[in-house]
Amino acid sequence: MCNFAAIKFDSMAKNKTQYFCKNCGAQSAQWIGRCPSCGEWNTFEEEVIVREETPAKGRSNATVTKSAPKPIDEVSLQQLPRISTTFGEFDRVLGGGIVAGSIVLLGGEPGIGKSTLLLQMALNIKEAKVLYVSGEESEAQLKMRAARLFAQKAPNCYVLTETSTQEIFKHVETLRPDIIIVDSIQTMQSSLLDSAAGSISQLKECAAEFQHLAKTTGIPVFLIGHITKDGTLAGPKILEHIVDTVLQFEGDQHYGYRIVRCIKNRFGSTSELGIFEMTQDGLHEILNPSEILLSQHEEDYSGNAVASILEGNRPMMIETQALVSTAVYGVPQRSATGYDIRRMNMLLAVLEKRCHFKLGAKDVFLNIAGGVRVEDPAINLAIVAAILSSAIDMPIDTKTCFAGEMGLSGEVRPVSRIVQRIAEADKLGFTRMFVSKYNLKGIKTSDYTIKIIPITKVEEMMKQLFGNN
Ligand code: TYD
Ligand code: MG
Repeated sequence: MCNFAAIKFDSMAKNKTQYFCKNCGAQSAQWIGRCPSCGEWNTFEEEVIVREETPAKGRSNATVTKSAPKPIDEVSLQQLPRISTTFGEFDRVLGGGIVAGSIVLLGGEPGIGKSTLLLQMALNIKEAKVLYVSGEESEAQLKMRAARLFAQKAPNCYVLTETSTQEIFKHVETLRPDIIIVDSIQTMQSSLLDSAAGSISQLKECAAEFQHLAKTTGIPVFLIGHITKDGTLAGPKILEHIVDTVLQFEGDQHYGYRIVRCIKNRFGSTSELGIFEMTQDGLHEILNPSEILLSQHEEDYSGNAVASILEGNRPMMIETQALVSTAVYGVPQRSATGYDIRRMNMLLAVLEKRCHFKLGAKDVFLNIAGGVRVEDPAINLAIVAAILSSAIDMPIDTKTCFAGEMGLSGEVRPVSRIVQRIAEADKLGFTRMFVSKYNLKGIKTSDYTIKIIPITKVEEMMKQLFGNN
């Protein structure tokens, strides 16, 4: 079945290259420091224009001769076989496991735990031979990490410290692994190009070679890609269209929680999300996220409000904390952790303008529990409640939760899949939930023990929460 001959590349092949400006696309035969067209500095990158390959071994020729148009009705539907990653959370994000011949990019900031996650997977998988190619760590370093993560023997896990793709393909041919992990794509180098490892053209070329390997041999390939904090060197971004699945590994370095988010998936939904906790002995799955995202305090503190959010298809309860205080310095400070500061400023503007809260001269700090970044706009209502609670220094009782979006005119808007959210809040023992009135069409609130409070405006919520204060 495996066509290993197809993965050989002629290392003596010569390529024609040109230099392109990353910013405006201007072309040049040689590298220039400053783009004459747009004036940007250091934007020229080498790109391959023509690759001269021996026709018999060429990539494109092999596919041209075999392919022919076919009516889609005649294409047989195959259930793609999937290999489990041994992490339920990871499998779900991938759409049910690793698909044969697929190429997955796992992106994330340095030190977030990408190598740990994939090495742990490689060690845990029993039924498949896994090759872990590392261009970053030595065998001894990998062994040390493996010893921390896994006490048992892992006879099916092989490590290779190599950065040349052509060398890797040779080893793949002899070892014939079932899964390949490449750590990281930025350290890989193809001898078909002269440019340094990590340059745009090397990234593209190496990714294309691994993609070719995956497609011709059916071996799934995982590529690890670094993304820097400020997003300037967004190398993996340019790979997104080459690969089948793009996963992002994120989390706050200072908290133990890590999230694998799916950004693109040809074999499943993109709305899935897996939650892990980084511990002394590696990553552990978190099966019930609500338990960790709610603080365990018994007393009521002002400034805390619980939101019912959906991440992927999974509902979870998460605590939001706000601190509103009088600004000591002239310009009030605004800061948000786990939430977009611009969205917070928008909510503050709505509160100021529509609800006549004088927040303009106040410092506002916002924190989402666990360092988790929340995208679901249903968290807005809880954030508003937390800010108001802190502003007037009156606590909200811990058994109350919120799910609603805020409009610019101060109206509380409906959110998606409200039934799932209510059911989760009910299951976790919440007694009161504020939702938009427009969300309750066709929903029988009497089915739940939790009291559903429909509202249309923030003022109504204020009255219910704090009386006439
Ligand atoms: P790593 O997987 O090397 O990150 P990446 O490959 O994304 O750069 O993870 C590095 C961090 O994880 C490091 O700061 C130490 C921490 N860590 C643990 O807390 N527990 C462990 O068992 C391991 C292996 C790492
Ligand atoms: Mg690493």
